[in-house]
Amino acid sequence: MLFGILLLALACNRVWTWYRLRHIPGPFWVSFSKYWQIKTQMKGDWYLDLKEVGDQYGKLFRIGPNQVMTTDVEVIRRMSHFKSPYTRGPFYQVFRYLPNQDHSFSLLDDAEHTRRRTILGPGYAGGPHLENCIDRQCSRLIDLIERKFVSTPTEYRPFDMTLNMILFTIDCIGDMSFGGDFGYLDEGEDTYRFIKWNEDFFYAAIVISNYHWLIKIASKPILNWVYPTVQSKHGIGKFIGLAIRAVETRLAATDKTRKDALSLFIDHGVSKQDAINELLVQLVAGADPVATAIRMTMLFLTSNPKSYDKLVAEIDDAIAHGKVSSPIKDSEARQLPYLQAVIKEGIRTFPVVTAPLFKKVPKGGDVIDGHFVPEGTEVGHNVLGIMRSTEHWGDDVEIFRPERWIEADEKTYDMMSSVLEIHWGSGRFRCLGRNVAGIQLNKMFVELLRRYDFSVAKPQASLKIVNSGFFLMSELDFRVTKRENLEN
Ligand code: HEM
Repeated sequence: MLFGILLLALACNRVWTWYRLRHIPGPFWVSFSKYWQIKTQMKGDWYLDLKEVGDQYGKLFRIGPNQVMTTDVEVIRRMSHFKSPYTRGPFYQVFRYLPNQDHSFSLLDDAEHTRRRTILGPGYAGGPHLENCIDRQCSRLIDLIERKFVSTPTEYRPFDMTLNMILFTIDCIGDMSFGGDFGYLDEGEDTYRFIKWNEDFFYAAIVISNYHWLIKIASKPILNWVYPTVQSKHGIGKFIGLAIRAVETRLAATDKTRKDALSLFIDHGVSKQDAINELLVQLVAGADPVATAIRMTMLFLTSNPKSYDKLVAEIDDAIAHGKVSSPIKDSEARQLPYLQAVIKEGIRTFPVVTAPLFKKVPKGGDVIDGHFVPEGTEVGHNVLGIMRSTEHWGDDVEIFRPERWIEADEKTYDMMSSVLEIHWGSGRFRCLGRNVAGIQLNKMFVELLRRYDFSVAKPQASLKIVNSGFFLMSELDFRVTKRENLEN
């Protein structure tokens, strides 16, 4: 009898769930459970499947019992606006690394999030220290390439673009915030197995991000042993220990001359615990997207010889005319139009953060693209759909063509730039590491291409990509040779 009542209640709940959003276009079966979302994420095709469903059903489409996606840039801007009543969905809390403790990305409390962003902002803003950190790590990457990866006519020494780029970005975060790099670029190894942890955690993260209540259960004192511990020698646990040590050392230091992100956090009143959590989110949110952007842009460049040659010619010409220092300054890179076009086009063609970033519809509901969306519904960003929409980019949207940025008139250029910026989020949720990423990208291509020639080692064995909102990539070896007649 009880079982029958439970079954009936469940059936009523399913029908009601379907009914609430029945008018929003989308595949029928996705309305009843999160099966479709989990299946496509586990398969690793999330970003592609989302785009396909979006192409079929329009700018607002349903992907789950309470989840819809938007491909409308204006809607994302509106939801993220400083005065918007939208809030973050529970999705964000999955990214807590310590039980019941938040960083900027996991905070759901709006007022606290705004307060935290204000005091964190100066640490992320950039400035000479940040640029010095990135220069140091570029130089360590070059040193690693010189020692281990330069091929000659008699010897092939594969350069794994997937691994080495994330080693670079991880060491950048170390230098920028932890008081020094982590030694990842010393020998080109995942010393503390952070990348391995990320891969191992990938499938568990899919389940947790779809069933957020697991976070609440896991945060209870009796169960919070499932969280990583500072005693761990590897993975995120090791980095929690490193973050605690970095913050404690800095708080105790009498010499206050090192003005890196961490000291700027402390100077602006970020508490010890909040600083520890912020260091961790930098690592998880900051290392992978930049590494993915560099490796994919290098892949697009080497697959498009005209673009590759044009970029190298621009760099060589700027060096010959004394417009570029060694290492290149961020301000100098901003003056190289083709470089800027390549960076923009790389990210446009292959957006590197495709997580849904669900926002919650406020009290009273909202009307999106002509559909009423009831209160509490989660609205996500269909980033690939935006970056591959013919409305913004024209008919050759699938193609990597930096020239589209050069050819565009001023109005179109501004429109394209502002659509592209959506990739960093918008308004009060906008990426705090936007400047950091910009400087890394501005420097990396010049520092690599002024010294070396790159070719994909095995074009027939294509890069392996798994995506659940975040990427896992493997098997992208390049042959790197020294450029001839080099005067750089
Ligand atoms: C190509 C590189 C990057 C891309 C495309 C990117 C994109 C994003 C996006 C889409 C968000 C969330 C927006 C939302 O919730 O609506 C975000 C948030 C964030 N990102 Fe990035 N990011 C990049 C690099 C970085 C780097 C290098 C760092 C750190 C050094 C960083 C730190 C953060 C932080 C702390 C947040 C949370 C901000 C907040 O909610 O207040 N990101 N990023």
